[in-house]
Amino acid sequence: MEKLNHIIESQQFDRELLDYIFSLADLMKTDPSPFQIPGKIMATLFYEPSTRTRLSFESAMLQLGGNVISTESAQEFSSFSKGESLEDTIKVTAGYADIIALRHFEIGSAKLAASVSSKPIINAGDGAGQHPTQALLDLYTIRNHFNNINNLTVCMIGDLRYGRTVRSLCYLLGRFYNPRILFVSPKICRMEEDIRQFLTKNDVQWEEMDFQTAIKEADCIYMTRIQKERFLDMNLYAQAIDQFRLDKSVLPMIKPRAIVMHPLPREKEIHPELDDDPRMVYFEQAQNGVWIRMALIHLLLTSSR
Ligand code: CP
Repeated sequence: MEKLNHIIESQQFDRELLDYIFSLADLMKTDPSPFQIPGKIMATLFYEPSTRTRLSFESAMLQLGGNVISTESAQEFSSFSKGESLEDTIKVTAGYADIIALRHFEIGSAKLAASVSSKPIINAGDGAGQHPTQALLDLYTIRNHFNNINNLTVCMIGDLRYGRTVRSLCYLLGRFYNPRILFVSPKICRMEEDIRQFLTKNDVQWEEMDFQTAIKEADCIYMTRIQKERFLDMNLYAQAIDQFRLDKSVLPMIKPRAIVMHPLPREKEIHPELDDDPRMVYFEQAQNGVWIRMALIHLLLTSSR
């Protein structure tokens, strides 16, 4: 395995590295005491809103015995508002912290940050680009439910154009044996060509499908929110919303052993009346973010492999 210096995109993770990270996450969950990194500091630099990613990174660092410095709403509360470039902010922050988790509104921002940073950068979401640590916790959740990640039909529903989590997850699923991916989206939110080409080139079966057929066939249903913040034309947004909903009326169509995931936050795409159904695993999925992020921070800050 090559040493991991930064986490920028899902394509960095091969099967061996994925297995290693998942095993490490299992250990973190059981007993993090052998993995403590006291004195290390994480900076969380978030230019876009977040609940799960920022707090789970911070919780992960604290559970590893480290410390956290943080700028949320960085567009407003950091020197971005005075015109500071991302490059300058990263160079300065790297002097204050051992590792930086960055969420930014522009595609490619994490790569740019890594190019000027003396400390590891973790992409915590770059616009409509990627969200690799989310994809890792998504895959970890799938692996924990099915024991392996081969021969699974995964149905992705919602905003596949602007949803960075589904893009990152497609790259990871392509690492496994015989996945089948079903895309269900409003016409204006179709999966982008680069991902469709990647899947075809890597012999991953994929197809666009109607909602009801897809949820009947899926082992894993991955719901997503329509990303209002990425739409320039609110009329198009209005056309895209509220097309696909999971509620009690469709529950009998879902396989008894299927799981339903969502990166959260949700709007109306999964009715809360389903939350107690054991197939709904989105809160467990969010919790898994802590163990995966502990494993990633440890990996980046130590020579543990
Ligand atoms: N899944 C996710 O990225 O959630 P947040 O935007 O709350 O971090």
